[in-house]
Amino acid sequence: MRKHNILVTGGMGYIGSHTTVELLEAGYDVTIVDDLSNSNPTVLDGIEKITGQRPTFYQESCNDLDAMEEIFAKEKNISGIIHFAASKAVGESVQKPLLYYRNNIVSLLNMLEMMEKHDVKGIVFSSSCTVYGQPKQLPVTESAPILPATSPYGNTKQINEEIIADAIHAGVPYKAVILRYFNPIGGHESAIIGELPTGVPQNLIPYLTQAAAGVRKELTVFGDDYDTPDGSCIRDYIDVVDLAKAHVRAVERMLNNESKEQVEYFNIGTGHGVSVLELIHTFEKATGVKVPHKIGPRREGDIEQVWADPTHANKVLGWKAVKPLDETLRNAWKWQLKIRGQQM
Ligand SMILES: NC(=O)c1ccc[n+]([C@@H]2O[C@H](COP(=O)([O-])OP(=O)(O)OC[C@H]3O[C@@H](n4cnc5c(N)ncnc54)[C@H](O)[C@@H]3O)[C@@H](O)[C@H]2O)c1
Repeated sequence: MRKHNILVTGGMGYIGSHTTVELLEAGYDVTIVDDLSNSNPTVLDGIEKITGQRPTFYQESCNDLDAMEEIFAKEKNISGIIHFAASKAVGESVQKPLLYYRNNIVSLLNMLEMMEKHDVKGIVFSSSCTVYGQPKQLPVTESAPILPATSPYGNTKQINEEIIADAIHAGVPYKAVILRYFNPIGGHESAIIGELPTGVPQNLIPYLTQAAAGVRKELTVFGDDYDTPDGSCIRDYIDVVDLAKAHVRAVERMLNNESKEQVEYFNIGTGHGVSVLELIHTFEKATGVKVPHKIGPRREGDIEQVWADPTHANKVLGWKAVKPLDETLRNAWKWQLKIRGQQM
């Protein structure tokens, strides 16, 4: 039987590269479209090293409709899309809102137009728990209210969810699965691919591992006076390979027509809240390496605490987070050492 070809936009990025590996290992063909605005071409070699397969790669922006037309015409048999391509730095989105609205919204519009024209069966969209803001009830379920976004980045996720829902409502023939990620961390156990931020990391784990490696002086914990057991913020940290596997399940579900619903929403998290201080201590215990850190003031826009109720994903999608946090943190450390040319 011919393999399904899945178009992975942003497939050279952090979550996209791990998902590409899982798709290839599950027997799919993968075509990547990435403009490399936040990734490195060597990621393709990493994917090939792990899987023994080299996905087709187009260095193009999803915002370029003509380029997308050409790719869809050339590939002919794209059955599904996983749309990761987006700009994702919350702070930068406050400084450059138009860049974020253009990049994150035009790229989705182009994908949806291509899907209708080229008979693509479904799209998996990368959304985020930021759509819930600070939920009143924890753990948060998919039916929790969507609160006003606190940044242009967060707003693009909400708008994208609405665009997909409106297209489905208008009767388009494809399906959509919207995955609301909690906090993806870690990397592939081989340490061949991982999170590769450019410049000063915006996310906790790359900053933490760089501080542990001595690249940064120290990690700042933004606030220890929140209404949480140790005063620091609480998040639901999800291993990136577990997260990648949720995409494979979502693709299968769409292609096999497993759902009567045309658009579905799933929380992709572990169901456990972990504070920033707990995360630091777990990292130190798991790796034996100290993390120099200090307590700083609260950071504007940070949510106090959020973690997922993943029951819907567990029961309906048939996916569950399985990797223990200490193992995820060891993988993150292995990756940090690897990019510094050292070994664990
Ligand atoms: N990492 C997180 O914490 C997190 C949490 C929730 C949701 N998400 C979402 O998941 C998706 C993937 O995130 P990530 O962490 O892997 O980010 P990433 O920056 O590592 O990957 C995104 C990739 O998309 C590419 N890209 C950006 N704009 C593009 C365009 N117009 N055309 C083609 N390629 C483009 C970048 O070069 C990059 O390789 C994003 O949509 C992000 O908003 C991420």
